[in-house]
Amino acid sequence: MFISFGCGLVLAAAGLSAGEPSPAALQKLSPRAAKALASAKLGPLGAVAHPADNPSTPAKVELGRLLYFDTRISGDNTISCATCHDPEVAWAETDPTSIGIGHKKGPRNSPTVLDSAYYQVFFWDGRASSLEEQALGPIENPIEMGMPMGNLLGKLDQVAGYKPLFKSAFGDEKVTADRIAKAIACFERTVVSGPSAFDEFLAGKADALSEAQVRGLELFLTKAGCMPCHRGPFLTTHQYRSSNMTDADLGRFDVTKDPADKRMFRTPSLRHVAMTPPYFHDGSEPSLEGAVFFRANNVRMQDVKPDTELRLTASEVKDLTRFMESLNGKLPAFQPPTQFPK
Ligand code: HEC
Ligand code: HEC
Repeated sequence: MFISFGCGLVLAAAGLSAGEPSPAALQKLSPRAAKALASAKLGPLGAVAHPADNPSTPAKVELGRLLYFDTRISGDNTISCATCHDPEVAWAETDPTSIGIGHKKGPRNSPTVLDSAYYQVFFWDGRASSLEEQALGPIENPIEMGMPMGNLLGKLDQVAGYKPLFKSAFGDEKVTADRIAKAIACFERTVVSGPSAFDEFLAGKADALSEAQVRGLELFLTKAGCMPCHRGPFLTTHQYRSSNMTDADLGRFDVTKDPADKRMFRTPSLRHVAMTPPYFHDGSEPSLEGAVFFRANNVRMQDVKPDTELRLTASEVKDLTRFMESLNGKLPAFQPPTQFPK
């Protein structure tokens, strides 16, 4: 039900099935890039998958929407999920790292919730494996929402207006941590983007990308070497790769304690990346062009190809950045709730 953004229509009009680049798109590229494009399996995001034990229902989505925006789920009634994942700024935040309860500053940049349903692992270090598992983390986190679960359950139980909502979502009025997580996750799975200019280009609208964006795509697929990690419809392998940054945050190592995982972070999706500055797990890079430069030249030169012939020029970095801008999907039409259960 969540693919009703017209993506299917664009594809059908072009006589294509998902994931198969159109001849019109391939013609714009060198043979080498065209081959890489096919093997990278770039293409439209399919429908969101729902876990068997948490099928989506309108009642759960509505309860989840209210909980997502309700500041009462934080310890001092000031912070909601939307404080750090704000629909006004593409469901992310503009601070380099999050500021939570009592103005406490966290160590990491808040990723966007938009399309997060397509990740296979969650958080920069992959410590949660589903949106359900993820949702309770920030509530109890002492520097995010600072609300111990026992207290939250008691508090929500006192809000009479939530009772009928829990009942229609789950069959009875009981407020449990599991139900809160399930409702929020169901809501998050509705926060998905519509097709990007790049999706339209792949589907056959050859002029959906500017000349600079086509040059950027060509680089992305060839010389710039982005595709080994940023591939598939969601433009990520979901794998942990080196950040090449400082030792301030050891990333995946904190979860596994395996020395090989030091400074490794989950490869982020590049969909709508232009809408969610600042960049990287620590929000240290304010501009997209800077982020592209860093990944293209600094990181790759050290790790992937120590061949300086492959270093990108300033104008190539610009083209690559223009291409990234073509990955912005249409934002879901959305109104935050104006009234909360009393
Ligand atoms: C104080 C700011 C803050 C609040 C409040 C907050 N988050 Fe987050 N959120 C973050 C940060 C920072 C991360 C990344 C943390 C990490 O990777 O260790 C994150 C990660 C996530 C992710 C994972 C995204 C991904 O790409 O893996 C989701 C989903 C998410 N939050 C949803 C929520 C929900 C739902 C709530 C409310 C229950 C919430 N957040 C409350 C800051 C916040
Ligand atoms: C070896 C795998 C790998 C390759 C190759 C790679 N990336 Fe990434 N990319 C990552 C990882 C991992 C991160 C997260 C790093 C961090 O946050 O510390 C990342 C982060 C980014 C970000 C920031 C995203 C955000 O939301 O903060 C951008 C932009 C980006 N990459 C673009 C590119 C471009 C353009 C290329 C090709 C020049 C490229 N990447 C090549 C793995 C890779």
